[in-house]
Amino acid sequence: MFDRSIKIAPSILAADFANFGDECRAIEAQGADWVHVDVMDGHFVPNLTFGPAMCAAIRPHIKGVMDVHLMISPVDVYLEAYAKAGADILTAHVEAGPHIHRTLQAIRGLGKKAGVALNPGTGVEAVTGLLDMVDLVCVMTVNPGFGGQSFLDSQLSKIAQLRAMIGDRPIHIEIDGGITTTTAPLAAKAGADALVAGSAVFKGGSADQPAAYGANIRAIRAAAEAALG
Ligand code: DX5
Ligand code: ZN
Repeated sequence: MFDRSIKIAPSILAADFANFGDECRAIEAQGADWVHVDVMDGHFVPNLTFGPAMCAAIRPHIKGVMDVHLMISPVDVYLEAYAKAGADILTAHVEAGPHIHRTLQAIRGLGKKAGVALNPGTGVEAVTGLLDMVDLVCVMTVNPGFGGQSFLDSQLSKIAQLRAMIGDRPIHIEIDGGITTTTAPLAAKAGADALVAGSAVFKGGSADQPAAYGANIRAIRAAAEAALG
């Protein structure tokens, strides 16, 4: 049975960059379902973050799902390195190049779960022909590159459209950007099941004072689940 229950995926873009191993252990201990790793190349998005070596370094500190969001272009050239680094899900942007179908084939060829991400300016029609190639569709609810931005309500109708398109296919709908206790219910009601949250999870805590992480995760989850009735 496909698990469409609410999953909280903290983004380590909002974590302490000097302490990733401890931070990953802390958020999992405090209830995170997935660890979301925002890979940025300074070309597809105006920011630069983690290479394959950093992903490999944190892998031993993550018991569960390592959800790697590739905001890079070109993307195909790096898939094997991130797969070897231990990613469980590799999500590529449909806007990253002309051959998204080939990219998704390559991700599955590496034995990983395949995700496709849509920027706010890209409609759901971009994934119509990909639904048998993906395990996850990530709807960006901010323009990618930075944490701490405001949720784009304009994306809610897109989430609902996507939910209708997917039907009972085993495909997760992940929402990424500006998730808080206020926006999580909106995303869940529209049909999302995986909620990425950076600033809303890491605010007020640290790896050695992680109680706030747990409280934030529980609050986001409760708000989303309450919306589902
Ligand atoms: C933005 C990233 C998001 C971001 C989420 O490009 O893909 O995952 O880190 O951060 P918040 O939750 O603070 O918007
Ligand atoms: Zn992300």
